[in-house]
Amino acid sequence: MEQNQVQQSQEMKIGDFTVSQLVQKYGTPLYVYNSQVIQERCQQLLAALKLLPTQTKALYACKANTNIAIIKLMKEQGIQGIDAVSIQEVLLAKKAGFEGRDIQFTENFIGQKEVEESLKEGILLCIGELDTLETLGQRLQSKKLILKETENGQKLKVAVRINPDVGVGECEHTITGGPKSKFGIYCNQIEEIIKISEKYPIEIEGIHQHIGSNMVQNHMDKYVQSIKKIFDVALQIKGLKFINIGGGIGVPYEDGVKPLDLIEAYQKIAEEYKIFKEKYGHDVEIRVEPGRFLVAESGHLLTSVTAIKKNQYSTWIGTDTGMNHLIRPALYDSYHKIENASNFKSTNNNDSQRQKVNVCGNICESGDVFGQNRLIRTVQDDDILAIYNGGAYGYCMASNYNSRNRPAEVLVNGSIDKLIRRRETLEDQLATQIFD
Ligand code: LLP
Repeated sequence: MEQNQVQQSQEMKIGDFTVSQLVQKYGTPLYVYNSQVIQERCQQLLAALKLLPTQTKALYACKANTNIAIIKLMKEQGIQGIDAVSIQEVLLAKKAGFEGRDIQFTENFIGQKEVEESLKEGILLCIGELDTLETLGQRLQSKKLILKETENGQKLKVAVRINPDVGVGECEHTITGGPKSKFGIYCNQIEEIIKISEKYPIEIEGIHQHIGSNMVQNHMDKYVQSIKKIFDVALQIKGLKFINIGGGIGVPYEDGVKPLDLIEAYQKIAEEYKIFKEKYGHDVEIRVEPGRFLVAESGHLLTSVTAIKKNQYSTWIGTDTGMNHLIRPALYDSYHKIENASNFKSTNNNDSQRQKVNVCGNICESGDVFGQNRLIRTVQDDDILAIYNGGAYGYCMASNYNSRNRPAEVLVNGSIDKLIRRRETLEDQLATQIFD
């Protein structure tokens, strides 16, 4: 009994639960989200937005985590809208209780069919190509596309995504602005946007930018520079209702990385806004749409140790998950902190029980490695490892590679645990295959 208690106190807890309680109930691999962390991040964002001297609207970029329970939680916490990037995300946002123009569909190269399908849902479309804008205009004018909003001759109100000629982010793959980016209409093509909107029954209600993902304190200058740029663009378009400055707010994946100071960032944006408003003559709503910031830190991917392999070069810790469940390390070389959640005394790296190990998954790929030369407290078979910051771009980027089933997802709120997605089965995978 006493031994047991010592063991218990060395375990990592999520909410009021020890990881072994969660694992006994739900198995591994398992995504666990702590709703209190999501609540804190939402409140932090909403408080920082109050620094802006105009009306604001906080959207959640749901691509980061599309579980409906998570999207619902955003609404409960006062997040006013959703940024969606596919018709499917639009429909998920609706299922979670968001409606109409509170859902912004930031399209990129989706084609007219999906443009029209989504407009029929009554959402706000944010268009990223002149070609898409022009074709939509033609279709509206020729009445090939008839929408409720435009039935009585009103113009269709849309937003356009601008590439402000500045990009920043964790790595090449997550930079979404600047000369190499496929996203948005370049900021020197504003006249063409205006021409199209004048030619067709289209009104540019808002402009949008999103320059990249996982911005930390080092990226502050570029972030502010891009916002100056979007304000310059806004000055060229009359009658704007809103400017959406995007998401991209980073989280500290690695110890020692300074996250973007939200208060400092929004104070700087407030200064730029005041200069803009002077010139523009009236207030414009400012919108933001972070994804990662609101959910990343809430999530851990819990995985069981399957085997330990030692040779003259290294010690490998094998797990029952892999790049199929969390692809960020393999895809972007991203760092995710890993701890032995079964032997969890401190997260201090100087702890003498720590050993240098490589942590890998069970997928048949050399890139299926979560971390190399990590100092982790002594690991034994069947221990539970916690891979940190799995709340964003974790499950939603998971696949069935090697025909493995995707994990379950659990939401913890203090002493309440809730299964929010059951573990996948082979039958689920077979459901779309046709064979006799
Ligand atoms: N808005 C737009 C238009 C976006 O394209 C994105 C992300 C966001 C908002 C939200 O960005 P966030 O606040 O989460 O940084 N899979 C990558 C991230 C790709 C994000 C693409 N766009 C990763 O795992 O780091």
